[in-house]
Amino acid sequence: MKLTMNTAFQENASNEYLLILVDAEQVQTAASTYKINNLDTIISATQYKAALNESLALIGNISTASNAALLGLGQATDLKANKIAKIAQTVVKSAQKKFKTISVDISALPSELHYLFALSLTQAAYAFDEFKSKKNEFVLEQIHLIANNSTLTAEQLQLIQAIQTGQNQARDLGNRPGNICFPEYLADQAIALAAEYPELLKVTVLDEQQMADLGMGAFLAVSKGSDRPGRIITIEYNAQRSEAPVVLVGKGVTFDTGGISLKPGAGMDEMKYDMCGAASVIGTLRALCESRLDIHVVGAIAAAENMPSGGATRPGDIVTTMSGQTVEILNTDAEGRLVLCDTLTYIKRFNPALVIDIATLTGACVVALGSVLTGMFSPDDELAAEIEAAGQTAFDRVWRMPVIEDYQEQLDSPFADIANIGGPKAGSVTAACFLQRFTRDYRWAHLDVAGTAWASGANKNATGRPVPLLVQFLANRASKNG
Ligand code: BES
Ligand code: MN
Ligand code: ZN
Repeated sequence: MKLTMNTAFQENASNEYLLILVDAEQVQTAASTYKINNLDTIISATQYKAALNESLALIGNISTASNAALLGLGQATDLKANKIAKIAQTVVKSAQKKFKTISVDISALPSELHYLFALSLTQAAYAFDEFKSKKNEFVLEQIHLIANNSTLTAEQLQLIQAIQTGQNQARDLGNRPGNICFPEYLADQAIALAAEYPELLKVTVLDEQQMADLGMGAFLAVSKGSDRPGRIITIEYNAQRSEAPVVLVGKGVTFDTGGISLKPGAGMDEMKYDMCGAASVIGTLRALCESRLDIHVVGAIAAAENMPSGGATRPGDIVTTMSGQTVEILNTDAEGRLVLCDTLTYIKRFNPALVIDIATLTGACVVALGSVLTGMFSPDDELAAEIEAAGQTAFDRVWRMPVIEDYQEQLDSPFADIANIGGPKAGSVTAACFLQRFTRDYRWAHLDVAGTAWASGANKNATGRPVPLLVQFLANRASKNG
């Protein structure tokens, strides 16, 4: 979906629908700007209050737009960022299936919320119909924003476009089922992306033989139960830059049955989303290519399928990781940390400035934070603050959780250097503590997106989070570079 920004409404034939956001206290401003006929009469007849998300259709009341509507903001000065997504959804819903191009006057919206509103419109316009025989008609193609007071810059609009493209790709990848999106498919997606931007991207793909040669016993313990071979994919952006790269590591478990520690059947289909960390890495790399940010970034994806089979890992099996540490695999369903730990060791060869891993790692994180906030774990206060700030700007927020030494003893094993589970208590923390044992040589943060990467239930859908957060984080760093 394309976004443009204008200071006044452009009347033209392809511009079929005009929505005017109105402050409950200043509905008359819209009336005078657009010369709305009989507005007082309509308002008293309909008892329209311009409450938040309350709309009023104006058909034939504005000479320049045959279809128009007011959309209430309540008291605009009271509006906070957490209401913006809902307003954007109302806008898109009112237009979708009817119009391809619309105009939205956002002059009544406080200007500090314009960036977020524009970003939210692009997010609300996402739809996934790849596997429906009957495709969506009249997909919203363009939104003309109108504001007489906007501080939104061309650069910000460009960043929004880039985030949108990357986030949508992450959502598409997440929504594709495990029989289509499997480890080699993710590798093909990375290769296809690099073919689109050959001057910006370099891809490498490790197969299982290469992983065995590197001693990646933990990764292979997961993928060996599946007929679909695992892959570690790296995508390097701006390799020619001299500064040390930011490395993004994504969990790409393309389906998580739990393995021999089999998951219960109900809702297991949602474990196709267990590669959403990987999808967010690919999406973020795409957004970087679109926006051409001046920064050196490496994406690394740990792609495997976790299946039970005659060749699968058994509970109690002990493996040696690429780092040399041995792991007792007490639960084959704690597989994310196993594919990640070898990938986190492997990426040391890029001499990272810092590493952020993104993983749908624990059900415990969903219990702790639900679907509002991503769990963020880092021993590095400065890095944690940078991630928090980027999350606020892009409204893709995180909450800092602890990774401290006191929890490490829960991972003690009587037989190996470390167990892959830490008992029922503090499940998302002990998972982060497991990863910490493989990340001591660089600055590191871990994002547990188990609750935020997709929505469950009737509105099941990938969210594309945390692409907005990651792109914002990288944009903030790139602007310091420039
Ligand atoms: N992919 C799951 C985590 C998950 C569960 C994400 C539900 C979103 C919703 C992960 O591989 C897993 O199974 N974790 C286990 C760990 C446990 C065995 C220590 C969990 O959270 O139950
Ligand atoms: Mn699992
Ligand atoms: Zn998993």
